[in-house]
Amino acid sequence: MSKKVGVDLARCVGCGACVAACPLGVLSLEEGKAAVNPRRHCLECLHCAAACPARAITWEGLTEGELYAPMPEDEVERLVRTRRSTRHFRPDCPDRALLRRVLDGAEYAPSGKNEHLNRWTVVLGKEKTDALIPHVLAWGEANGRPELKIQLGRGQNMITCNAPCAIVGHIPAGASNPELDVAIAMATAELLLCRAGLSACWGGYLRRAIQAAPELRQLLDIPEGNVVTGVLLVGWADRERYVNVPWRKPADITWV
Ligand SMILES: Cc1cc2nc3c(=O)[nH]c(=O)nc-3n(C[C@H](O)[C@H](O)[C@H](O)COP(=O)(O)O)c2cc1C
Repeated sequence: MSKKVGVDLARCVGCGACVAACPLGVLSLEEGKAAVNPRRHCLECLHCAAACPARAITWEGLTEGELYAPMPEDEVERLVRTRRSTRHFRPDCPDRALLRRVLDGAEYAPSGKNEHLNRWTVVLGKEKTDALIPHVLAWGEANGRPELKIQLGRGQNMITCNAPCAIVGHIPAGASNPELDVAIAMATAELLLCRAGLSACWGGYLRRAIQAAPELRQLLDIPEGNVVTGVLLVGWADRERYVNVPWRKPADITWV
C-alpha cells in the first residue's frame, strides 16, 4: 500500500516523468495529470520526486524543502547522492573496454587481508540476459517469490530490468570476507559506471537465483563452491531522467 506519496495537481505538468521512473506502477497519468494508485505497493524509493521537473510530487510528513534536497556542489558528493537505480535500459550493450576500465577501477576498493579474490562474470547482450529470466522465474515459483511472474506480466521486470549487461560478482567460499569484499567492489563499480554516464540496478533476485539454481550456475560457468555475492544490471537509462536529489532517511548514529 502506498500512503505517503501524493501529487500537487496545480504544479503537475503531466509530463509522465514520475510514471516512467516508478518501479512498481504506483503512478499513472489520468486526464493529463499524475495520479497515485493506492493499491499498488510503494517501495518509497522517491524516484518519482527525483524525476519530477515541476517538483509536483509531495510526501506525507515532509516539507517541500525537505523532500527536494539541495543538489550538492561537491562533485563526489553529487555523484553519490544522484546515483539511483535504473530499471529501464536501452538495448545497446556497453563495450568490453569500458566495462574493463570500471572493473579494474573497482579493484582499488579495499579488500580484507588485501586478498582481492573477487571474480566477475559479465553477461553481454540483451538476448543473453533475457535468457536468464525463465530460470529465475522457475526458482521464484519454487522459493516463494511468485510476485516476480506477476510483476513481469505487468511489464515490470525486477529480475533483469531488461538490462543489456549483467555483472555477476562471485568469490571462493574460503575468502576471508566473501560478501563484504564483493559488495564493496561492486558499490565502487556502480559509482564508476554512473560517472561514465551509465546506469545500474542491483539484481538481488538474480543473485539469489544464480547462487541457488545449478542450471544458472552452469549456464554462467560459476566455479563450484564460489559464493555469488552480487549482481549489477548495467546499461544506459532509457526512461528514467533523475533531475532532483530527494530526501533520504538521515543516518541512524550512536555517538560514543
Ligand atoms: C542488495 C540489493 C538487492 C537489490 N535487488 C533488486 C532486485 O532484484 N530488483 C530490483 O528491481 N531492484 C533491486 N534493488 C534495488 C533497490 O530496490 C533500490 O536500491 C532501492 O529501491 C533504493 O533505490 P535507489 O537505488 O535508487 O537509491 C536491490 C538493491 C540492493 C542493494
